[in-house]
Order: sequence, then C-alpha cells, then structure tokens
Amino acid sequence: MVVSNSGVVCSAAPGKVILLGEHAVVYGRTALAASIDRFVEVSIAPAASAQLMEARQAVPLPALERAAELTGLDPASITACAAADLPAGVGLGSSAALSVALIRALARFAGQSLSDAVVCARAFEIEKIFHGFPSGIDNTVATYGGLIAFRRGDTVKPLATARTIPLVIALGRAPRETQQAVRGLRERWESSPALYEQLFDEIDCRVNEAQHAIAAGDLPMLGALMNTNHRLLQRLGISTEELDELVALARDAGALGAKLTGGGGGGAVICLCDADRERLVERFTRAGWRAFATDIAQRGGDGADDAGRFEQRSFAST
Ligand code: MEV
Repeated sequence: MVVSNSGVVCSAAPGKVILLGEHAVVYGRTALAASIDRFVEVSIAPAASAQLMEARQAVPLPALERAAELTGLDPASITACAAADLPAGVGLGSSAALSVALIRALARFAGQSLSDAVVCARAFEIEKIFHGFPSGIDNTVATYGGLIAFRRGDTVKPLATARTIPLVIALGRAPRETQQAVRGLRERWESSPALYEQLFDEIDCRVNEAQHAIAAGDLPMLGALMNTNHRLLQRLGISTEELDELVALARDAGALGAKLTGGGGGGAVICLCDADRERLVERFTRAGWRAFATDIAQRGGDGADDAGRFEQRSFAST
C-alpha cells in the first residue's frame, strides 16, 4: 500500500490461474489455484483530487458503490481508478484482483485495518456484482496469494510445492463471460444431474491426485492430470475450438500438460513446461497468439513493492 503526499492511496492484488478443478468447484468440489505475478492496482483519492488520476481507468461504479458502502464511506466523496498488467476478461481473475485491491485501498483511505478474512469476505460481495454466483475461489487467491486448495465452506489450504511450477499462459481471441459459462453449465446440470455430478466427481479425483503430484514435485504427473482435466472440461461443454487449438499447440510443442483455465468459453489456457518456457511463448507468438511466461506469486499483493507501479498504464492493457 502506498500513500502519496497528494493524498492518493494505492493497493495492488494479483491475478490467478486455476490449475485444476474450475466449474466443479461451484458444485462443492475442490479446486487448485495460484496467484500469478500480474496485478491490478487501485488508487483512491478525495473526489476533489480527481484530476490527479485522469490517465487511469475509473473503477466500475456499482463495484465502487458497494465497496464504499461496506467500508462506511460516501462514494460521492472519493474517486477510484485502476491500472493493470493483468489481461482483463480472459479468466485470469482480473475482477477478483480489482475487488481485493479496491477493498484494501478503501479501508486504508478510511483509516481501517482489516484482516485478510474480512478483505476476502468483502471482495466476495464485489465479485457477486461481476459474476452472479461465484464460488469464492478467485477473491480468495487474490487475497491470500500463493498456491491453494479451495473448497466452498472449508478453510483455505495453502499447498507446499517441492519445486517451482513453470507456466506459460496463452490467450484466446474470442470474448468470454464467466457468468454465461457458469449459467450454461447450470442448465445442462439441471437437465442431467447424474451425468454432470459424475463428471464433477472425476474432476475431484484428478484434483486430489494433483495435490500429491505437487507435493512430490512430479511435474509430468501434474501435466498428465491437467490434460485429463481439460478433456473433462470439454465433456462439460466448457471448452471451445480456439482453446482446444491452443492446448493442441502447447502439447505439440512439448508442454507437459495444457488446459483451459477459469470460466472457459474463450479466455486463456495454461501450459506446464519443464524448462524452456520462452521457446513455448515464441511458438505461440509465431502462430499469431498472445502468450507469456508466469510465476506463481507468493502473496496476495498490497505491499509497497506492488503498488504505484502502473503510473502510465490503463486497466485493460496487458
Ligand atoms: C472462475 O475463475 C472459476 C469458475 O469455477 C467459477 C467460480 O468458481 O466462481 C468457473
């Protein structure tokens, strides 16, 4: 968190990838998620200083109003802007990162000190504005950071890794909407609950095995489980031709595993590499896709190192 002498308060929170278990987590199964080293930063200033943040993008009003209400502030008395190096709208948790950074920045602006649990709970309220009925995994990762196992209603379980998990993220071009993907799956589940419950159970088994693979540092096993999870997501009707193409390219280029991540229906894929991530990034780039290597961030943002880094950047930029 940074307070400038102009009275602007900043806070940053990280984006995330879901390694395994998205969608099934909405139905009470476990998912594994990790924060990444890409952030959304929110700046708050008194309304009278709005011109200080002209270069930045305004925080969406419904989110600001709800967050201000939760903090006990009058939204008319403040101005809130965001900037990011996290691509928005591709399933990498930008709305959750925004929600967490907004809650923390407002609390500091109001002189409140919040526990992570309260930050997470308030950010969940903001996430509902963006996503309807989220499981809570995205705001949890954005709050606490690191690699976690998440199950609705359970305490968050941080996972120890025997070695780093080298990832490449490739972005699709098709627009996507998590809320729509979640709603579409809900309709299919309502018409054939037994079939979908069985698929969720199969995903849950892979998630369980993946926790052992992570603890043992067994990247080939983790990659194989990610591949299986992608096939199960295809059967849930969550993947697209474009995401399947990205996954196929990654596997063809030697990735240990690849799958869509997050809401699906467009968005991003994550690829697990053994060593040479840059070679895979180059393969994607040569084929006309946007891709980048990423590391799992170890904490949920809000440090002075994280904030104040996006002076010239807009919220939607990559
Ligand atoms: C979105 O990042 C993950 C989903 O499982 C939805 C949710 O858990 O809220 C698709």
